[in-house]
Parts: sequence; C-alpha cells; structure tokens
Amino acid sequence: MPSAVCGPATFRAPFAPPDEKLAAALLAEAGRRPAAEARIDARARRLVEAIRARATGLGGVEDFLHAYSLSTKEGLALMVLAEALLRVPDAATADRLIEDKLAAGRWLDDVKSTAVLVSASAWTLGIATRVIHPGETPHTILDAIVRRIGLPAMRAATRQAMRLVGAHFVLGRSIEEALDRARAHADLRYSFDMLGEGARSAADAEKYFAAYAGAIETIGAHAGNAAPPGRPGISVKLSALHPRYEAISRRRVLDELVPRVAELARLARARDLQFTIDAEEADRLELSLDVIAAVLGDCALAGWDGFGLAVQAYQKRALAVIDWIEAAAAATGRRLTVRLVKGAYWDSEIKRAQERGLPDYPVFTRKAMTDLCYMACVKRLLAARPALFPQFATHNALTVASIIEDAGGVEGFEFQRLHGMGEALYETLLAELPQAACRVYAPVGGHRDLLAYLVRRLLENGANSSFVAVAADASVPIEQILRRPESRIASLAAARNSNIPLPRDLYLPERRNSAGVEFGERESLEALLAEIRIGSKPAAAATLIGGVACGGAERQVLSPIDGRPIGTVREADAAMAAAAMRAAAVGFASWQAMPCAERARILERAAARLEADRGPLLALLQNEAGKTLD
Ligand code: FAD
Ligand code: 2OP
Repeated sequence: MPSAVCGPATFRAPFAPPDEKLAAALLAEAGRRPAAEARIDARARRLVEAIRARATGLGGVEDFLHAYSLSTKEGLALMVLAEALLRVPDAATADRLIEDKLAAGRWLDDVKSTAVLVSASAWTLGIATRVIHPGETPHTILDAIVRRIGLPAMRAATRQAMRLVGAHFVLGRSIEEALDRARAHADLRYSFDMLGEGARSAADAEKYFAAYAGAIETIGAHAGNAAPPGRPGISVKLSALHPRYEAISRRRVLDELVPRVAELARLARARDLQFTIDAEEADRLELSLDVIAAVLGDCALAGWDGFGLAVQAYQKRALAVIDWIEAAAAATGRRLTVRLVKGAYWDSEIKRAQERGLPDYPVFTRKAMTDLCYMACVKRLLAARPALFPQFATHNALTVASIIEDAGGVEGFEFQRLHGMGEALYETLLAELPQAACRVYAPVGGHRDLLAYLVRRLLENGANSSFVAVAADASVPIEQILRRPESRIASLAAARNSNIPLPRDLYLPERRNSAGVEFGERESLEALLAEIRIGSKPAAAATLIGGVACGGAERQVLSPIDGRPIGTVREADAAMAAAAMRAAAVGFASWQAMPCAERARILERAAARLEADRGPLLALLQNEAGKTLD
C-alpha cells in the first residue's frame, strides 16, 4: 500500500439524473454572440472541407469503413466474422476458419460456430439498431455476399480487411515498433496505450501490468528533452490490471489494484512521463475515482504534475466528476491533467442499463446532449486552469472550432486524437495554428488484445450519428454538420431519445421489465446490502401441502459458506410427498382451467412480491446456497 497524504473526498453524484433537468442547466449556458458563432462556422467549414478533400478517391480503410459501415447488414455480418477471426490465435487457423465459414451451405450444419457468431456483440447491436430483419442471420448474409462475389474474392477481402483495419488503428505490435513510427511525426505528442483490458485472470492482469511497466521504461528511455506537458505519456486501463475490477469487489480492488497503479505512476514519474487513466464503463466510475483518490494520496507522487484521468461527457455525472477533480487537485496541491472525451461505450451502456432494469440511463440518449455537455465541460476545464491541464480529445471539427472560440485561442491546453483517426483535421489545424498542440493516443499490441478496442472504433466510424462518418460523406451538406447541439434540443422533452424507452418500459405494452440494482452506484448497493442484512434472519422452512404447513422431523440447516446455523427445515416423509403430488395435480388442474389473464395477474403479483421483498429473499439465497450477490 502506498504511504498516504491527505487525499480527495469520496465522489458522490446521482447515477442517472433526469435528462430534462440536465438539459435545462446545459441549455442555459449554451450559445454565443453571433460574431463568435460566425468564426466557429468559418473554421469548422474549412476543417470539414479539408477532411473531404482528403477522403475522396484515395481508397484505403476509410472507404472500406464507409462501404461496410455497421449501418449496413453486410458490414455487420463482416464484423461478426472479424470478431470470430480475432479470437483465432494463428494465421493458418484463421485461414481455415474463413474457408470453413464462407463455404456456402455449411453454416446451418455447424451449430456450435453458429452460436458463437450469433452471440457476437456486433450482431446484437445490429438487431438493436433494426438493420437486421427477422430471419436474417450473419451466415445468411455472408452467404449472399459469397454468392455475389465468389468465395476466393470474399476470402481475400476478409483477410485483407482484417489486416487493413487492425494496422490502421494500431501504431505498432511492440512499443519499440510504435516508438519507431512515432519518430516520423516530431510535431505530435504521443500517449501510448498497451492494448488489453478486462483482465479475466490474475495471470492476465500480471501480463498487462508487465506490458505497461516495460513500455514506461522504453518510452522513458526515448523521451528526449521535451518539457511537460510536451512529454510523451502512457494511457492505462484499470480493468487490465485486476481481474475483479468491479464495485462489489471494492475492498479487494483497493487493497490489490491501488498498489499496482501507484507503482506504474511512480515509474512514469521517474521518467517524467504523462500518466493517464482511461475512462471505462459507467458502473466503474465511482470505483475508478476511489482508486485514483488512493493513488493521489501516495506521498511518493507528491508535487508531480503528470497524473491525469479521462472524463466522459456522455455520462450524466461528467460535470460532477470535473468538480471532484478540481477538489482533488486542490486537496493534493498539484496540477492534474484531464482528458475530456465524449465516451466510447455508449451502445453497451444502453444495453447494460436495460439488462439491469435500472430506473434510468447513466448516459445521455441523444448525441446533441452529449455535445452540449462536452462544451459545458470544456468551459469548466478552461476556467479551472492552471490547477487542471485540459486535453480535448475529439475528431469533430465543430467541437474543435467551438473549443478554440471559447478558449480565445489554443494556449494552455492540448487537443488529442486517436491513431488512425482525425489526421486531416489536425494537419489542417496545425498548419493554420502552429502554436496548437496535438497528442495522439497510440494503441500498441498484437491482434489477440485488439478486439474490444477495434469494435469500439468500428462502431465509432460506422455510426451514422458520428462526425467522422458524416464529415467524409460529401452528400451530407456542411450546414447540417455545423448545426449546433443547442438547436437540436428544441425543448426539454427533446433531451431524451424517443426511440429509446426507459429500461423499465422496454417490454411495454406486454409487461414491465424487472427492476435491478446498479452495484456501481454506491447508494444503491449500500441500500441493497442493508436490506439483505435486515432480511437475514434464521429461517424456519416447513413442508407445505396445498399451502398448509405440515409436521415432519425438524433438521438444522448450516450455511455452506462457513457452517453457521441459518435455520431449520421440516423434512417431508414418503406419505407427505404422495399427498403433495395429489395436491399438485388438483392445483395444476385448477391452474389450467384459470383464464389466461388471471394467471398473468398471479404471476405479476408474485414478481412484484419478489421485487418488494428482495432483501429477505436474497439473504435466504445467499445463506442457503452460498450465492454471490451478482
Ligand atoms: P462525435 O461524432 O462528435 O461524437 C461521437 C460520440 O457521441 C460517441 O462516441 C458518443 O460518445 C456520443 N454519442 C453518439 N450517439 C449518442 C447518443 N445517441 N446519445 C448520447 N451520446 C451519443 N473514450 C472513452 O470512453 N474513454 C477514454 O478514455 C477515451 N480516450 C480517448 C482518447 C483520445 C485521445 C480520443 C481521441 C478518444 C478517446 N476516447 C475515449 C474515445 C472517444 O470517446 C470517442 O472517440 C469520442 O466519443 C468521439 O467523439 P468525437 O467528438 O470525435 O465525435
Ligand atoms: C478506447 O479504448 C480510446 O480509451 C478509448 O476506446
């Protein structure tokens, strides 16, 4: 455990406040004078034109991404195949997989591979976005492509596409290769990211830790003499460093993950490198800030200005996070770097909230709300200089032009882009404003660890709401691209996407979704744990026949966790079992005779009771069967 100095307070903010309330506050501070808007228009237009000039006729990965965007069924099917391919460890097996999967007619025979493909994330997202029609599956679509262009062409195209797409978004397979390539762009700053996230085992976490530590040493050895904030850096995903990086394992995470992060931060400090914690899923936000608070409290890092974190503007808590960071900088008496992003996990955030049956979404459901929130965060960060060093990560020309206008120039912050994205935009900007600074987030690693990162990039490039997708499309009028987010939110009701029902309304009008608990929200988790504690009483289970308790020998029941007595059960004998069967037959007959609506009402009442009495029920399940909370 690092030795601690006074650290920041615990982060607390409502997990998913109503969009309308947030919209009212965001709209109140949006908008500028006409002259300022005109300057933004002019700059953004120049940038979009430069992007379009670069995009036409050059071929390459942008054209591929455009042609096979995820809003086409072919693009989705190829993505599914790509996901499967990325799981294959070696080239020879990958070739055999393509051969096998693309041979028409084999799909339907191969139940196992079909199951893998159908469960792929791209496919579920396709279903969610209604690109896929009933009866269509990845294999029917791929079969159709094979029939159209032939198997050899399809095989070559798939292999080439995978290589192209992977190489496009990754700077190097090793840190040495990445540094070598980065050297060719002396005008850019770099933050290297060792691919790999969501460690599944302690061995995974060790491997990723070693990769980060080795990379810090190597980057440091080649970092040259640039002064901060121009130093190169490293971007770290906490989920790579611990296999149980989740809110219900908070104690363990604080005990085991904090020392690892602190050790990496110390290594970065020793080499005077920028050290940034990436932002991941919303349910990990509170936990990530707990970890960061503990690391900031490490005496060995006192006085160092190289530590930073990413903030996602699509999260409804973004402004509260910035307040927390400002307070953390003040409490520890040092400057922190803050990378402002819009957020890369939008699709999975929506799915997860629905799956969990949460009261509302932790992220906005309209892109314009994210854009509005981003600009509010920009203002907050600019005002917090020099206690914070803002890093504005975006590939959106309108966002870039708006930042420059609101900042009154390009001093005192840097822009950031991802490797393989935003080149034309930032080349044009740096040519116009050479004093501007741009850092490139550069992933490093092999194909095994690429999948999650690549899926996020393909979603980003393929979504028709995404700036990069429309900016490159000459058929979209520039005026449309330059429309301000505040004009898209014409009323408070427009703050929500009317096509995305609240999680509880997902199955209406048929039924209400079951209500779940967000473990990543401290207050919800604490409330649930309190209900379980209160509900955890010795249980006396009787033999029930037709709803009436019968006698039978009483036996003590012990917890499978620690052998502690948790209650008693009255065992049935053979005669009682026979009586129970007779009662069940009578009950079943009356159940079958009951009108469907009445049966549905009974089931709904039962469901409501389970939700209302969840504390005692969960206590019983945990005590009796040793079940984990999840
Ligand atoms: P735009 O097209 O203007 O915005 C796209 C974004 O809008 C989407 O990504 C999403 O956030 C949001 N959006 C889209 N549809 C909706 C909707 N219906 N409702 C609400 N919001 C919507 N992301 C992370 O999550 N964590 C990181 O640590 C991180 N680090 C990054 C580092 C760098 C240097 C860069 C450039 C990006 C990083 N990203 C990270 C990815 C980043 O979130 C995306 O690249 C970014 O959202 C794209 O925004 P844009 O302004 O370029 O494009
Ligand atoms: C991601 O991994 C760049 O952190 C961002 O998608």
